Amino acid sequence: MKMFDKPFSATAFVLFFILCDVSLATAENTKDNQKSTYIVHVAKSEMPTILNHHSIWYRSILKSISNSAEILYTYDNAIHGFSARLTLEETQLLKSQIGILKVLPEKIYKPLTTRTPQFLGLDKITDMFPASNATSDIIIGLLDTGVWPESKSFDDAELGPVPTSWKGKCESGQNFTAANCNKKLIGARFFLKGLEASVGPLNATKQFRSPRDSDGHGTHTASTAAGSAVKGASLFGYASGVARGMAPHARVAIYKVCWEDNCVGSDILAAMDAAIADNVNVISASLGGQAVDYDEENLAIGAFAAMEKGIVVACAAGNDGPTDSTLQNVAPWMITVGAGTIDRDFPVYVKLGNGKNYSGVSIHDGSLTPRTFVPLIYAGNAGVKTGAELCLTGSLDPEKVKGKIVFCDRGNISRVEKGLVVKSAGGVGMVLANGKIDGEELVADAHLLPTAAVGFSASKAIKMYLQQAQNPTATLVFQGTVVGIQPSPIVSAFSSRGPNPITPDILKPDFIAPGVNILAAFTKAAGPTNLDQDDRRVDFNIITGTSMACPHASGIAALIKSVYPNWSPAAIRSALMTTAYVSYNNGKKLLDSATNGPSTPFAVGAGHVNPIAALNPGLVYDLTADDYLNFLCALNYTAKRIEAVARRKVSCDAQKHYSVTNLNYPSFGVVFKQVARSSSATVVKHERTLTNVGVAGTYKASVTLDNPSVNITVEPNVLSFGKNEKKS
Ligand SMILES: *[C@@H]1O[C@H](CO)[C@@H](O)[C@H](O)[C@H]1NC(C)=O
Ligand SMILES: *[C@@H]1O[C@H](CO)[C@@H](O)[C@H](O)[C@H]1NC(C)=O
Ligand SMILES: *[C@@H]1O[C@H](CO)[C@@H](O)[C@H](O)[C@H]1NC(C)=O
Ligand SMILES: *[C@@H]1O[C@H](CO)[C@@H](O)[C@H](O)[C@H]1NC(C)=O
Ligand SMILES: *[C@@H]1O[C@H](CO)[C@@H](O)[C@H](O)[C@H]1NC(C)=O
Ligand SMILES: *[C@@H]1O[C@H](CO)[C@@H](O)[C@H](O)[C@H]1NC(C)=O
Ligand SMILES: *[C@@H]1O[C@H](CO)[C@@H](O)[C@H](O)[C@H]1NC(C)=O
Repeated sequence: MKMFDKPFSATAFVLFFILCDVSLATAENTKDNQKSTYIVHVAKSEMPTILNHHSIWYRSILKSISNSAEILYTYDNAIHGFSARLTLEETQLLKSQIGILKVLPEKIYKPLTTRTPQFLGLDKITDMFPASNATSDIIIGLLDTGVWPESKSFDDAELGPVPTSWKGKCESGQNFTAANCNKKLIGARFFLKGLEASVGPLNATKQFRSPRDSDGHGTHTASTAAGSAVKGASLFGYASGVARGMAPHARVAIYKVCWEDNCVGSDILAAMDAAIADNVNVISASLGGQAVDYDEENLAIGAFAAMEKGIVVACAAGNDGPTDSTLQNVAPWMITVGAGTIDRDFPVYVKLGNGKNYSGVSIHDGSLTPRTFVPLIYAGNAGVKTGAELCLTGSLDPEKVKGKIVFCDRGNISRVEKGLVVKSAGGVGMVLANGKIDGEELVADAHLLPTAAVGFSASKAIKMYLQQAQNPTATLVFQGTVVGIQPSPIVSAFSSRGPNPITPDILKPDFIAPGVNILAAFTKAAGPTNLDQDDRRVDFNIITGTSMACPHASGIAALIKSVYPNWSPAAIRSALMTTAYVSYNNGKKLLDSATNGPSTPFAVGAGHVNPIAALNPGLVYDLTADDYLNFLCALNYTAKRIEAVARRKVSCDAQKHYSVTNLNYPSFGVVFKQVARSSSATVVKHERTLTNVGVAGTYKASVTLDNPSVNITVEPNVLSFGKNEKKS
């Protein structure tokens, strides 16, 4: 799985995957005689009655096909089954054993806020619910890179005793003991058996064999969801103010499953298995991999079991936008969260020798600023090998860049690595130029040298100057933090887009939340760029990605759950979706950074989350586990495929008409197989049932049409509800 921060260009991801695959393949060839990790789904109902525990049965099944294979994990909550290292031949034998539903190769996933509470109006919410003890009963479990427990964001001073519902634990390990947990950070576990089985032993000089976070991603997401309020938070003075999670009184339970950007399916399932048994109320997963069918997707299968227990599962939508159909984590029983900007920016001016200036963004630690004009050079003209225009490692000629500001194109390696390349070659500043695919979206990073990230149009203008001027010069003028930027939010170019690659009728993402330049707590084991060469240490870091949007949704879901403890995960998601907004105060549609034009539902889903309104949605579209099973019947899943997801036998009724379009989802997509000619218009019907969760009242449907080639009618157009009444 991929952690969803640091969105470099799509090409960079491709490169990363290739490197990953090679290293995994090598490890396997040399080490384990072609064994790989497989997740084995078992029909527990077929367990011979004389065996009194499933783990005995699973071991005997495995013994019957191999005398060397060992079980990595036995699962009982997220799925029924186990994971093991097997050869291809052994998997064939295994598939023919009684009770075996599915043998899936393990998938690799990647782990893909001072101002946000105010931006979302949540500063008012805390006034509405002062130190609400109901919120403090809610437990958010985070599947991520672990936690830095000493961060002030996990201070427990305002909290009462740990909720009695909590069944989890605080595991000790390298530089981490049970004493690192408290009444805020109530649990912490780590899962790496699966990882070590595929890539070999963990390098414990670089990473902690414990829940301790050496990366920062997990500390950031956990504090975004539920961090306690910390006064005077900032990164080098940027974004200063009170840093506070969305649900500052909720409890945090850490499940460390990602190790240096790798998270493997067997470890993730073990973590979900534990989180369900531990009684968390919300699972927040800022990680993903390419979307596959629901019955092959570990996170989706684990999320199904969680949903049945009333646990809300929120996931990042992915950072592969603006390309179409790049969404991840699209199961209809999950919350899929895309990313947008907030009203805060960190502007910098690039002043050129010709008197013109262009604005960009920067987070600058105050060192080494070129205060006067210095020579500006295009990296493509300063190279010793190919890839210099991209400032790839070792591509720049120190003779040519020494003492200069270097203009680098984005792509192929991470943004912060380019800064390191320029700095190592003796450059004194960098202009980091968006390509067409990045549009005008500006991501602020804590670069190792003074840097201005500029949008595509500024990048074209500066390039023109570089071509035409005899002796181009420039200087960077830093402006600090500016709030109240309008318009905001704007959908991020990197936020993954629909249509939903698995079931286009289910519109995803569900909504967007803040995910650009988010300030939250960080690890002290790495610098803010995460580069080995970065020896700066910070309490808070500003990072970007759908990884950052997801915990905003998880924290807000926790608030709703605390007010309405009996609401199902679907009702909570419905409240978040139907109250989301799609336009600015002036009525104009939310903009999309990728096009600079209006956004579409494939980018924003139901719109931008509005937590205050979500507390009072009036009506909800509710769903039960059975509704989702009917949906799988409608997709013509076989009995075995459904059992792998549902962990029990479910028979679809051959007489019954199941329909994907009738899943009671709060939004929908319509797939037109072909363009209808005027004579034969295509008619599509969707049926929905609404539950009144507010006071008795009458609701009238209204339709806004963006596209004149489609007509929409709602029947009946008016519905009156008594308290708790349902109507279709
Ligand atoms: C919440 O619980 C704590 C400890 O049980 C108690 O001291 C505090 O007064 C409670 N707060 C509210 C708002 O009820
Ligand atoms: C981890 O613990 C070891 C041994 O106590 C100590 O030397 C080291 O500084 C600790 N590392 C961190 C990052 O706290
Ligand atoms: C582990 O990481 C350290 C620090 O980066 C490095 O010096 C060492 O070579 C690594 N060890 C192995 C076995 O890769
Ligand atoms: C950059 O130019 C704008 C107008 O184009 C001006 O308002 C601003 O003050 C200039 N900034 C600097 C640092 O020169
Ligand atoms: C950058 O990445 C693209 C896509 O992977 C690749 O085709 C190209 O060769 C790379 N450029 C360099 C200079 O490595
Ligand atoms: C399921 O099978 C039925 C009957 O063959 C077919 O009409 C329907 O289109 C199929 N549904 C899907 C989603 O493939
Ligand atoms: C939509 O309805 C209007 C009014 O009933 C009608 O004039 C129009 O032709 C319809 N458009 C389509 C595409 O069917």
